[in-house]
Amino acid sequence: MRFIAVGDLRPGMRLGRKIIDHRRTSMLEKGVELNDTLIQRLKQNGYLGAYIADPFSNDVEIQETVSEKTLEDGIDAVAEANIGSILNVASALVDDISKLKSISVDMLDLRSYDDYTYHHSVNVAVYAVAVAARMELPEEQLQEIAVAALCHDLGKSLIDPAIINKKTRLTDAEFEEIKRHPKYSYDLLFNNPSISPTVRQAVICHHENENGSGYPFGKMGEEIPLYAKIIHAVDVYDALTSRRPYKDPYAPVDALEYMIGGVDILFDRKVVEAMQNVIPAYPPGMDVGLSNGERAVVIAHTAQALRPRIKIYETGKEVDLSTDLHYRMVFITASGILMKESSDGVEKLNEDRGEGKDNPKNILVVDDSQISLGQTRAALEDDYNITTLESGLACLNYIKTKGLPDLLIMDIDMPVMDGMTTVEKLRKLEYKDLKVVFLTAIANKDTVIRCNQAGAKDYILKPVNPIYLRERVKIALDKNLDR
Ligand SMILES: [Fe+2]
Ligand SMILES: [Fe+2]
Repeated sequence: MRFIAVGDLRPGMRLGRKIIDHRRTSMLEKGVELNDTLIQRLKQNGYLGAYIADPFSNDVEIQETVSEKTLEDGIDAVAEANIGSILNVASALVDDISKLKSISVDMLDLRSYDDYTYHHSVNVAVYAVAVAARMELPEEQLQEIAVAALCHDLGKSLIDPAIINKKTRLTDAEFEEIKRHPKYSYDLLFNNPSISPTVRQAVICHHENENGSGYPFGKMGEEIPLYAKIIHAVDVYDALTSRRPYKDPYAPVDALEYMIGGVDILFDRKVVEAMQNVIPAYPPGMDVGLSNGERAVVIAHTAQALRPRIKIYETGKEVDLSTDLHYRMVFITASGILMKESSDGVEKLNEDRGEGKDNPKNILVVDDSQISLGQTRAALEDDYNITTLESGLACLNYIKTKGLPDLLIMDIDMPVMDGMTTVEKLRKLEYKDLKVVFLTAIANKDTVIRCNQAGAKDYILKPVNPIYLRERVKIALDKNLDR
C-alpha cells in the first residue's frame, strides 16, 4: 500500500484503505476501484489523496496506530459532540496506542473539507496520546489528554460555519470570534460531571504560546498546563499538514521543521522532541524524489528520521538510505504530498491577498550580519521583493526617503543603534502602519517584553529556520492565516 496525492490518482487504482466520512457521502471501502467520477469527487472535497494497493508497494509496512474502528467511532463521537462516546473512544485510543511495539503515527489522515474539524480532533488525540506516551506519562493521564484533545475544538460548532470556512481574509471581528472557540469548548464541558477540571483547563489553554503571545489568556511557559502544551503543538502540526479551503498542505518533514523553528517561542521544547520521535518525517508509503533524480516510495523507518528505507520506482531496487554506501551522498529532495496541479482555490486566494507572483509584497531586512542577511533573503526572495540593509541608521534613512515596506524584519542586536531603538524611533516618527518582526539569538523574558512593547508582530530565533520564517512572515502579513 502506498499514498498517492489526489492529483496523481488514476482510474483503475484500487483503494488500500477505507476513506472514512462522517456523513457517509464519500465513504469508500478498501478495495474499491477508482474511476474518473470518484477521483473528481475526492479532488473537489479537498482530500489530500488516498492509499492505493498495488503489487509494487506490497512490501511497504504502514503501522496502523489506532484501528479503523476507533478512528471512525471518534469522528462520529466528535461530530455528534457526544461526551459519553468521546470517553469510550478516548479509552479505545489509549488502549490501541499502549499495545504498539513502537509508538509511531505513520498513517496520513484522509479527510474532506466538510469533515475537517472531526478528523482534526481525532488526529490531534492520536498524536497527543502518542506524544504523551513517548514522554512516559501514566495511563490515567493519557486518558485525560485523549478526552481533552477530542474536545478541544468542540466550541467551533457554536461559530458561524461561514466564518470557519471563509476562503478570503477574515475581518478583525470574525477573527476575534474564532479566538473565542477555546472558551466556547470549555463552557460546553463545564456542567459535565465526567469531565475533570484538568481536562477543561487543557481545553481552554490549547492556543497558548510559550512566549505569552497566544490566547485567550496570554499565559507563558510554566503557566501553561502540560496537557495544553502537548495538544497545542500537535494541533498546529495537524493543521499545517492538512489542506484547507484557504491553504495547501505542508509535507510532514516541513511541518516538523516548522515545529522545531517554533521551539521556546510557540512550543515547548520537550513536547517537540517527543513529536519528532513519534511522527515520521517521511511516513512509509509516501513518494519521495531523490537528489540523483530517481523517484521512490518509502518502505519503512530506520534509526535515522531523514534516511528511511525506500524502493526505487525505476528499478524496483530497495535501498536503506541510513546504511547504503552507494546512496551516501543522495538526499531526499521532495516528498509527494502536494497535488501536482496546484489547487485553484488557494491560488485565487493568494491573488486576493495581493500575493500573486506579479504583485509581491516589499520586505525590508535589517541585520548587521551578512550571513544572516543572506539566509533571510534566500528563505524569502521567491515570494517577496527583498531589500537588505546593514544598520539601524541606514534603515531610518531608507524609510524616510522611500516610505514603509509591507514588513520590516529587524535584527535586535546591532552595534550603534540596535533593532529595538530603531523601531522606537520609527514609532516616534509616526509610522503607525509599521509591521515589524524581530530576529534575535536569545529569547528570554526581557526580550519578549521589549518586543511586545515595541509592538512587534512576532520574533524569530536565529539562525533562521527557512520554513518557520516563511510561515511566520505570511502570518505577520495576514494574521488571519493562523486560525
Ligand atoms: Fe483550536
Ligand atoms: Fe484544533
